[in-house]
Amino acid sequence: MIPINRPWLGEEEKREVMAVLDENALTTAARDGGKRVRDFESSLRQYLGCKHALAVNSGTAALQAALMAAGVGQGHEVLLPSFTFVATANAVVATGARPVFVDIDKKNFTIDAADARKKITKKTRAMIPVHLYGHPCDMDAISELAEKRSLAVIEDACQSLGSTYKERQTGTFGDMGCFSMYASKVLTAGEGGAVVTDDDRLAEKIKMIRNHGMVEGYDTRVLGLNLRLPELSAAIAKVQMLKLGQMLDARRRNAKIMSELLSGAKGFALPEESADARFNWYLYTVAFGKSADRDAAKGALQKDEIGAAVYYDPPVHRTPFYRGKAKLPATDWAARRVLSLPVHPGVGEAQAARIAASLKAAAG
Ligand SMILES: Cc1ncc(COP(=O)(O)O)c(C=O)c1O
Repeated sequence: MIPINRPWLGEEEKREVMAVLDENALTTAARDGGKRVRDFESSLRQYLGCKHALAVNSGTAALQAALMAAGVGQGHEVLLPSFTFVATANAVVATGARPVFVDIDKKNFTIDAADARKKITKKTRAMIPVHLYGHPCDMDAISELAEKRSLAVIEDACQSLGSTYKERQTGTFGDMGCFSMYASKVLTAGEGGAVVTDDDRLAEKIKMIRNHGMVEGYDTRVLGLNLRLPELSAAIAKVQMLKLGQMLDARRRNAKIMSELLSGAKGFALPEESADARFNWYLYTVAFGKSADRDAAKGALQKDEIGAAVYYDPPVHRTPFYRGKAKLPATDWAARRVLSLPVHPGVGEAQAARIAASLKAAAG
């Protein structure tokens, strides 16, 4: 089976993890984190070209910490797409605020700024654009709307490390950007995350929030939690940062092979970059038309030992916990039509060609 995702790990990660064990330095509650946390933060900062990068222990923790730092809480509303992993909404609920689901743009599956505008109320405090599948959101429209209506923008860049919008890294447009290093992501630590920002005050707050609101020992000043990234995970993340360029190149190569082989194929639309939006190719997601059966194609691909997967059906607003009155036609359309295929660095050129051939046959 070619899995939909697989971490790309080598001897370098093993050596760094062993060094952590040899040093008996598993974790530290120091305000600035351990040595490897700081190394990882420094390379992420340089890669993204931002002022602060603060490591935390998951993408969900990154979102929750960012919302807390933005002052989002009870009585507030936060705009976000329903077409996302449920963690985006869960982080909002964890702060006491109410998630308000916004529809998506069919062309790239990301939040529709025009629909977001319609859903702003007096209670709206923040907006979470999600760069789903590594497809950058329309950050010009989102930034303009946020500025006009004084909303905080917290980018969910959990799937988009390395994607760019107008040649700038996703995660660096909003007040804060949130990344995940879960095992499926383009850069992994098993579990892990980071909040990035150019704002000194927000960075200080995040540092407190990830460590029980403390500054110098037991002097809790704001509500915080234990969101610290352990050194063992930071060791892996730090080494993965050195290979990020190489890993992204491999994804791009695989996607290119597939797009060339699938060009002109009937029954589904291919993922396409634009002059403004460059993908990290976290996933290769096609959208089926009315004439082709997505679920049958998924079954056929899986029979061919290809880990084709559907993200996300049901969308968040149709899950039992979140079920409500939201009407989101483009979201419902996407949930029924998308199918994601593997393009991770473990997929070789021959396998990329095999995936394309299998999809063509399955949709034909
Ligand atoms: C869009 C999105 N948001 C948030 C998360 C949460 O990240 P984590 O699993 O690291 O908590 C993920 C990944 O799992 C994600 O894909």
